[in-house]
This record gives sequence, structure tokens and C-alpha cells, in this order.
Amino acid sequence: EQVPVELHKVRIVQKLNLKPIDDRLKAIEKGGYNTFLLNTEDVFLDMLTDSGTNAMSDNQLASMHQADDAYAGSQSFYRMEKALQDVFGKELILPVHQGRAAENIISQTFIRPGHVIPMNYHFTTTKAHMEINGGKIYEIYTDEALKIKSSHPFKGNIDIDKLKKLITKYGVENVPFIRLEASTNLIGGQPFSIENMREVRKVADEHGIMMVLDASLIGENAWFIKQREKEFANSSIRDILRTMCDLCEIIYFSSRKVSSTRGGGICTNDKKLFMKMRDLVPLYEGFLTYGGMSVREIEAMAVGLMETTDDTVISQSPGFIEYAVNELDKLGIPVITPAGALGAHVDAMQFLDHVPQKEYPAGALAAALFIVSGCRGMERGTISSVRLDNGEDLLADMELLRLAFPRRVFTLSQTKFLIDRLNWLYQNRELIGGLEFVEEPKVLRFFMGRLAAT
Ligand code: F0G
Repeated sequence: EQVPVELHKVRIVQKLNLKPIDDRLKAIEKGGYNTFLLNTEDVFLDMLTDSGTNAMSDNQLASMHQADDAYAGSQSFYRMEKALQDVFGKELILPVHQGRAAENIISQTFIRPGHVIPMNYHFTTTKAHMEINGGKIYEIYTDEALKIKSSHPFKGNIDIDKLKKLITKYGVENVPFIRLEASTNLIGGQPFSIENMREVRKVADEHGIMMVLDASLIGENAWFIKQREKEFANSSIRDILRTMCDLCEIIYFSSRKVSSTRGGGICTNDKKLFMKMRDLVPLYEGFLTYGGMSVREIEAMAVGLMETTDDTVISQSPGFIEYAVNELDKLGIPVITPAGALGAHVDAMQFLDHVPQKEYPAGALAAALFIVSGCRGMERGTISSVRLDNGEDLLADMELLRLAFPRRVFTLSQTKFLIDRLNWLYQNRELIGGLEFVEEPKVLRFFMGRLAAT
């Protein structure tokens, strides 16, 4: 058995509760069978997300003490700007309060009704912002992308043929940019290769279209490139990050993910693009030297970004995910392979093949796992999708239970606990039934929606 080793030591800890199963049943009923609506007091292992939950380093915490409280011209901002210039190689930086705020600004600036935006895959907030501005997204992933079991190293790649056809069909004037998402979140944290990025770049150049990179999980994508793409086997993470960023005009990110704090940003070297977006920052976010972030978070983000370039930091989460995925796979539990970034992704469609997709198998599985283990995952399936104008659900391509492994948070024995409980649940899966909505928000319904057992 190959086990991951923690390349850090624990110096500050937070006590966890492992409550009796009856308490958890009450908690999930109270929360409308939606794991977003749980109180962490009732949660044992919080694997909802890595967003804002990665462990902070000693150096990050220390940096928060030197924060410069200033509305305008804060030194903290300039330190963060320098870190971003250094790691991403972009000179012009717009700070925002989190990733979706960057999506708001980019979408409002560049998307008009009738536009189409090609991308490897959507993220929930990305799609919502693009559609609000009249755009339509097209996911032009390769045939391999949605296969649960695969050994393809780069399931996040864009299908170049589909990209060319899409541009021809809709006309270059209707394609404001091509979006690439690093470690493609909703298909299991799957990376793309630099080879693929270069091919996309070629097509983009032929048509004069810009490339926008969602870099929220760029560190892990770079790690996978180092592991899986021959040309980069001996490159540093820093060099790989620069190679990726140099291929795109605009980079945006959620620093809740990329460097374990809060906030986000938009980076570019193109003054014209920068000026088009700039004025929306004070309108929606705050002044240009804080963008809705606290200066303490800005300091920690700068340090965290530097740490992202360190192999011993960025390899941790993928190492634990790979261990969990391989062990679950050995037990016959349907899980996305190869292991990706962010978390282990269980295929609820197979796990609960007796629950129809209309009854939200991934949501049902998330609720059931919480009841039997106290481990909180996130539904990434049809609940996270949308209802169409005709009243029907837009069934998601995949019904996934995502079990996030925030960086350097959980230990190996906690990982083994999760695997053991999932195995018990798999052996007793006929106990699990479907769900239906009892309260359904119109936008991003998965956050606050309430459900009940069918
Ligand atoms: N892009 C990607 C690829 C993301 O994964 C996220 C957030 C965002 C944009 C939005 O950033 O939350 O800071 O506004 N992902 C979190 C998750 C929420 O749990 O996967 P945000």
C-alpha cells in the first residue's frame, strides 16, 4: 500500500465533534437534506470544499500582522501585486472580493447578448454570470472527459476540432474569448496539458480571440503537468505556472482556493483590457488597492501564492486524493479516475443505480454519507444544475459526490475513516432513497435549496 506522507507538522489544531448518529439525522433534516445548510458543530470531517478552508501556514499567519490598514495605497496591496507579478507574470492587477466577482467583471465587460463562450467545462458561478450578461456557454471537452473510469492524464483538455467548428458556426465576432479552467472542477478536478493550451492558443491566434484562464486551481494543474506531461517532468512548478500564464491574455482566480485565504483577482499585461475592466472594481468591490478584501487576507494571499510554487505544499492535496481514490477504486466503489485536484469524486449514478437521476442521487448520497459518518461532502450533479423554462431539470452530465481534501487539513487516519464509512454505505446502499425540492431558489439553487426524502 502506497501512503501519502504529510510534509508539515501540526502546530495549531481545532477540536472536532463526532456526534451520535441520531443527532446527525436531526441536523440533516433541519438542513433540508442540503449539506450547505449544516452547522459545522454537527460535522466531523468537513469535506464540503477547499474554498477558504485550506490550512494556513505559519508564514501566512505571521504576514497578517504586518498588514497596512489603508483605504488607498496600502503597502499590503503592493506586496500582493508583486507576488502576482512574480508568479503569474502579469503586471496589471485588479483585486476583487472572491472568484465570482472576477467573473462578474469579466462577463459584464466582454459579454453581450448573442455571444458564445467556448470552454473546457463550466463552473456554476461562471455560467450564471455569463448567462446574466446574455452569453451562452459551450463546453467543448474531449470524449474522454466525462468517462468515470479512465486513465487519460488530461481530461480537462479542450477538443480542438470542436473549438474550430464552434468558431466557424457562430462567427469570430460572437466569440469574446475562450475560457480555460485549470483542474476542471465539475468533472472531477481534471487538468489540461500545456500541449493542449498551445493548440488552443494557435486557434485563438488564427482568429484573434483572447484566452481567459480561470486559475483558481492552477497550482494543482501545474503539479499534474509536472507528473504527467513528459516535456515538463524536470521543470519547476514556478516555470510551469509561468508557461501556462504566458499563453493567456487574462487570468482570474478565487484566492479562497489558489492561496487558502479570501479574495480573488484579475491579472493581465494588456493595458487596454485592464482599462476596460478597471472602473467596475470601485463600483462593485472597493477601491483598487483592496477590492473588497481585508488587508490581512491580502498579505496572507501574497505569501500563500508564493507557497503554491513549492512542490512540498502543492503536492499534498493531490497525494491524499490519489490515495483515497485508489483505495475506493480497489473496494469497487465507483469513483472518478485518474485522481484529480480538489477532492475524490464518487459517481452517485452508479453508486445509487436504483435512484433515478430526477431524484438527485448525488444529493441523496451526500446526505446519507453525512448521516452515517459525519463527513460532509458536496453534491455536484443535477441539484447544482438549473431548471429549464419548461419546468424540467436540466439533468447534469455527471452526478458526483465531491469529497474535498483542502490542502494540509486532514490526516491519513481521517482519510481512512472516510474510506471505511463510504465502504459501509456502499455495502448498504439500498437503504438510500431519492430527494425532491421543497424550497427552490431561482439562481444557484444548490446553495440554499431545501429538499425532502421522496
Ligand atoms: N472558478 C472555479 C473553478 C471555482 O472552483 C470557484 C469556486 C470559482 C470560480 C468561484 O470562486 O467561490 O471565490 O467566488 N469554487 C468553490 C468550490 C466554491 O467549492 O468548488 P469564489
